Amino acid sequence: MAKKTILDFQSMVSKGEKIVYLTAYDYLTAKMQEKAGVDMILVGDSLGMVSLGYDTTLPVTMADMIRHCQAVRRGAPQTFIIGDMPYMSYQAADVAAIENAGRFIKEAAADCVKLEGGGPRILNRIRAISEAGILVMGHIGLTPQFMGQIGGYKAQGKTAQAAMSLIRQAKLIEEAGACSILVEGVPTAVGKAIADRAAIPILGIGAGSFTHGQLLIYADMVGLYDNFTPKFVKKYAKVGEILTTAFQEYTLEVRAGKFPVDTEHTYTMEAQEIAELDK
Ligand code: KIV
Ligand code: NA
Repeated sequence: MAKKTILDFQSMVSKGEKIVYLTAYDYLTAKMQEKAGVDMILVGDSLGMVSLGYDTTLPVTMADMIRHCQAVRRGAPQTFIIGDMPYMSYQAADVAAIENAGRFIKEAAADCVKLEGGGPRILNRIRAISEAGILVMGHIGLTPQFMGQIGGYKAQGKTAQAAMSLIRQAKLIEEAGACSILVEGVPTAVGKAIADRAAIPILGIGAGSFTHGQLLIYADMVGLYDNFTPKFVKKYAKVGEILTTAFQEYTLEVRAGKFPVDTEHTYTMEAQEIAELDK
C-alpha cells in the first residue's frame, strides 16, 4: 500500500474514518506496526522513558531522536512518520527550531515533526517550521515537557475556563500552519469540542472517542512498560510477561544443560572429519 499523505488523513476525517496512530522507537516494532496497517507512527520523546530508562522525557537529545527515527523509518518505509522534537530543540528560537525540524526530514526521512505547547512563542515556531515547508503537528493538553509547570501527570482542561483556553490554543495552532494537532489527557467533552471546531485532523491520546484518530504509546498498550500506566491506556497484550517467561525458561534450561541438546539447534560434522580431530 502507498504511504498515506496529509491529504489522505484529511480525506479520512471527512469520511469519518478513524486515524490509527502508535508510537515506535525501533526497527522491529515499526515493522510490525506497518504490517498491522497502522496509519501513522510517532517516534515520541517518550523514547526517553520507554527505551532509555529516564524518569522523564527531558534528557532526550536530537541525536537520540534522529537515531531512533532512522531505525523506525527502516522498519516502516511505507508509513507516515512523525518525529517528536525533544526538549530544548525548538523552545529557544525559530532558527534552531527550523534547523532541528529539518534534521528529522533530511537525516531520518520523517514526514512531519511534532512540538508541544500553544503559547505565543510556540505559535511562532510552528509558523516558522511550516513556512520552511515542513509538516508540523501541534501537541496540547497534558504536555510532558511542561511537567514541572503542570505539577504532575494529571488531566488538563477540566474546568470550562481551562477547556476554553485549550480550544483557543487549538485554533491558533491551526492558524499558525500546523497540519494536525495531538490532544493529550483531557475530558472527552474537550476532545470533542476541539475536534468539532477544527479544519485539520485532531488526534487524541486520553482525549476520548470523538477525536479524528487515536494514539497510544505502544509499550503501554502491549504491556511492556509498567512503571506507570495512565487511566487512558488499554492493555491489548501482556508482552512483558511473555518475554520474562521466555527469559526465565532459557535461564533454567541453560543451567540444567537442557539447551542445546538436540540436533535441531546444533551444527553437525561428518564422523570421519571428527575422527581427524583426534589424530
Ligand atoms: O512522546 C510521546 O510518545 C508523546 C505522546 C505521549 C503523546 O508525545
Ligand atoms: Na512527546
